[in-house]
Amino acid sequence: MIESDLIYKLSSCTSNAINYLAVTIMIKTTIKTERLLAHKTECLILFCLEEKNPSGKLADLDKKLKGIIGVSFKNKRFEGKLNQTLLMNIPKPIRADNLMLVGVGKGQEMTADKLRQAAGTAARYAEKSNLKAISFYIPTDKFAKEIYDGIGKSGESFAQTVVEGSLLSLYHFDDYKKPEKDKSNRVKQFTLLIDAKSRITPVRSEVLRGRKLAEAVCVSRDLISHPSNTATPSYLAGKAREFAKSFGMTCKVLAPRDMARLGMGALLGVAKGSQEPPAFIILEHHGGDKNDPPVVIVGKGITFDTGGISLKPPANMDEMKMDMSGGSVALGTLRAASALKIRQNVVGLVPATENMPSGNAVKPGDILKSMSGKTIEVLNTDAEGRLVLADALTYAARYRPKVVIDLATLTGAVIVALGHQAAAILGNNDKLINRLQQCGEVTGERLWPLPLWPEHEKAVKSDIADLKNIASPGTGAGTITGAAFLKAFAEEQSWCHLDIAGTSWSSEEKPYTPKGASGFGVRLLIRYLEQEAKDNQSS
Ligand code: BES
Ligand code: MN
Ligand code: ZN
Repeated sequence: MIESDLIYKLSSCTSNAINYLAVTIMIKTTIKTERLLAHKTECLILFCLEEKNPSGKLADLDKKLKGIIGVSFKNKRFEGKLNQTLLMNIPKPIRADNLMLVGVGKGQEMTADKLRQAAGTAARYAEKSNLKAISFYIPTDKFAKEIYDGIGKSGESFAQTVVEGSLLSLYHFDDYKKPEKDKSNRVKQFTLLIDAKSRITPVRSEVLRGRKLAEAVCVSRDLISHPSNTATPSYLAGKAREFAKSFGMTCKVLAPRDMARLGMGALLGVAKGSQEPPAFIILEHHGGDKNDPPVVIVGKGITFDTGGISLKPPANMDEMKMDMSGGSVALGTLRAASALKIRQNVVGLVPATENMPSGNAVKPGDILKSMSGKTIEVLNTDAEGRLVLADALTYAARYRPKVVIDLATLTGAVIVALGHQAAAILGNNDKLINRLQQCGEVTGERLWPLPLWPEHEKAVKSDIADLKNIASPGTGAGTITGAAFLKAFAEEQSWCHLDIAGTSWSSEEKPYTPKGASGFGVRLLIRYLEQEAKDNQSS
């Protein structure tokens, strides 16, 4: 059964897009139909279940390789455990220079995210082993029934998940390095090997989808990774305009005088200490019917958080360039929603500013008047995220939205509560919270609910203003009181808040997330928007 060497070169990049795309996405993806043994590559990668003996296609291959795969299982050199890898150099009869096995764990416990992780682990291991051309074998459901069943539950597909995981793990941010430095050992060729010509068309669309998803995440990662002297509020606004132009969205940016006219005193209060002008970015994707209420995504856009007059300590302050992660995720999600032509109206709102100390800066004890009319006593200038979000949530109400979802690196306390494994989710609509949480299970972006009780809302009431931006001493529950403050500005809207302070930046490598910006939230929101779009169709 030798199939012809049909090669489909997929390039989802437009020439204009190349400028701002991560290197990752420039890796060419090729689909080939060829026999496993005849396929020439530097590294052929096979997914393996955790089981006693290799089965299916792997067993066939093992016979031809005189049982060396079976021996590895027997010696427990390799057991197929999730993210376990084994790289073997095999001369003949295989034409690939190397064979890599990567574990996906037990068949009954299979999920889409496990396959995504295994693909990411394998791709990165290959790259670290200086292999520049890698090929993943995408078995049919006949040879990998359990894997297909496991990922099928989520509605994701095999090839998409593999492409997504690999491209995400091969992301590098090196805009500030000399062009040649450290780039010679990058994976340059990426091939999916399939069994039958008849599968080319479906696999091709799965691959395209995987690329678009990875691309959206990498666009957000890029924005987050740039230092604050590049990624200023104006820079973010420029990017939003660029996305709008490339993908047919509308973009409007409010300048400080517009903010003043609207009475956005909370946002302007935070911006007062900075030389950089703030920007309020509005990006709209018109994917649904004209009068359908949009999903509004609000993202915290603090391009650098020094703490202001309530100055942060020096250690790790550099990481506060990522305090616009929520905003970047909002922009990346809007870009993807339009690229994927999601049939749902979506609005992205990013209140962007620096938080700086200066002779002009807002001081502890100052009272700001927000766009809602509510006054805020600023007791700690380092609780600035909730101030800029307050005005954005008020602005969101103008759209009479279906739901409002805000994403923010809001509190260090969320790291105490959940570490780096999950973002906290809080809000005023349990259905929305559940739905988002389920989306995150599939995309591998975990959300964990925290309560929001009347006592927490009381804790952010001020003696001399309507609200205060930090809770009374001894209240504790920093993540919850932050959300309680936001709730006052969400008012009657169906709203939820994701505190992504622990998940948007990673100080260690994860299977498909390199160190640094993770882009957490993008794939989760896309999945959510697609579900909403489906609901629109059926109702
Ligand atoms: N941007 C920070 C939160 C943060 C901390 C993000 C660690 C990422 C990693 C936020 O503006 C902040 O400073 N929050 C304060 C709130 C406090 C003053 C109530 C905090 O968490 O300490
Ligand atoms: Mn702060
Ligand atoms: Zn902040």
